[in-house]
Amino acid sequence: MNGQVKFFGGEVFPLEMHKVRIVQKLTLVPVEDRLAALREAGCNTFLLKNDKVFLDMLTDSGVNAMSDRQLAAMMTADDSYAGSMSFERLKAVVEDIFGKPFLLPVHQGRAAENILASALVGRGNVVPMNYHFTTTRAHIERNGGRVEELFLPEALNLDSADPFKGNMDTKGLEALLKREAGNVPFVRVEAGTNLIGGQPWSLENLSETAEICRRHKVPLVLDASLLADNLYFIKTREVAQRDASIREITRRIADLCDIVYFSARKLGCARGGAILTGDRALFERMQPLIPLFEGFLTYGGMSVREIEALAVGLEETMDFDMIRHGPEFIGFMADALHERGIPVVRPAGGLGCHLNAREFLPHVPQERYTAGALAAAVFLAGGIRGMERGTLSEERREDGSERLADVELLRLALPRRVFTMSQLKYAVDRIHWLFENRELVGGLKWVEEPKLLRFFSGRLEPLGDWQERLCAKFRADFGDSL
Ligand code: F0G
Repeated sequence: MNGQVKFFGGEVFPLEMHKVRIVQKLTLVPVEDRLAALREAGCNTFLLKNDKVFLDMLTDSGVNAMSDRQLAAMMTADDSYAGSMSFERLKAVVEDIFGKPFLLPVHQGRAAENILASALVGRGNVVPMNYHFTTTRAHIERNGGRVEELFLPEALNLDSADPFKGNMDTKGLEALLKREAGNVPFVRVEAGTNLIGGQPWSLENLSETAEICRRHKVPLVLDASLLADNLYFIKTREVAQRDASIREITRRIADLCDIVYFSARKLGCARGGAILTGDRALFERMQPLIPLFEGFLTYGGMSVREIEALAVGLEETMDFDMIRHGPEFIGFMADALHERGIPVVRPAGGLGCHLNAREFLPHVPQERYTAGALAAAVFLAGGIRGMERGTLSEERREDGSERLADVELLRLALPRRVFTMSQLKYAVDRIHWLFENRELVGGLKWVEEPKLLRFFSGRLEPLGDWQERLCAKFRADFGDSL
């Protein structure tokens, strides 16, 4: 028994193992209104307002569907500044799942990164990792350190069928720790590696990484924000772990790491975040920063209701039926796009479906923001809001030159348990139409370019009138349909 439902008709598709009991009304505005909204937003999907968005696939952060049990737990929160019993409940759940007795609450994932980098990273330090995340790198660099990425060649090969593209280059790690002895405050491994398409690592690779760290006496830090997806892939792709439960795999992972931190906007389907450790010395270096940046030690900037929701959400993450929904729906969408000849990252990772923008729009150079242009075009085509994960998400070098991204992806995130199968089919249909009309899509240029994390608030405009022409083609093809 693998828990899969087989269909008499032979079709293969994932089935929701939950029912929807609270809904939010959506609106789909005409393509002309989508064009006006896009221009008002400076062609930046972060700046779109939700009343013009039909399927919000920007992120899975803070927008996952909560369970009835999470909502119920929020009603029993022990709201107090200090000594909250809600915090004690979270601490007990965390210790039970991860086996780490020390818990520092923070208001979200990047706040954990701020605490970690402020406490542990000094000028000239190097922090090796399987791949960076935007806010992680910004915090390390802000504290005078630099990031060294140690991924394997498969990581950036969008056509490779490797099941564990998030794996650390352990040979590279060994060499780096020798070369930089005494200059590495910690090694970071990111679960469900975000910027390369939500790709996982294997438990075998993490074990090797941990062994190297132990030999060099360097702490191993796990960013567990996307751990749920990585757990699913270990269970379904790593033969040696096939018979282990999700809870057992989680504990094996946590036992290999000195510090685990996460964004609870992702892991646990709540909001907030946490840093966990079993190491008293590390805990004591970080603890004084919590009241300074986050709030008192029993809430750390989180609402106490969210702390209750997180405790239940983490428990629910140990349920295979719960964590399979995201990766299986993403896999369905990626396969459906692939069957139509559309370049998409396969095997699909977690978090979302990732379109390969350089193959989708080979005529739009990276300097003209290939993935950014595709994000704008997908919004016009279907009211679907995705997130650019390419050169726009990079920062310029100190000399002002563009840091071209390794890969240009458009991420269509699937918040957990939010979208239905017919909504996915709609998205596939509109992206298919766009692909057939891809030669109409052109590039973008900056109108306002912030220096730091420019992708959040920067404004761009199209080069030429390609957006008007794309909308006119939509109208011609679809008549008066939305
Ligand atoms: N680490 C990873 C792997 C993440 O994906 C994120 C957030 C963070 C840390 C920071 O957490 O948002 O709670 O401060 N990723 C979001 C995304 C923003 O849309 O991918 P946060």
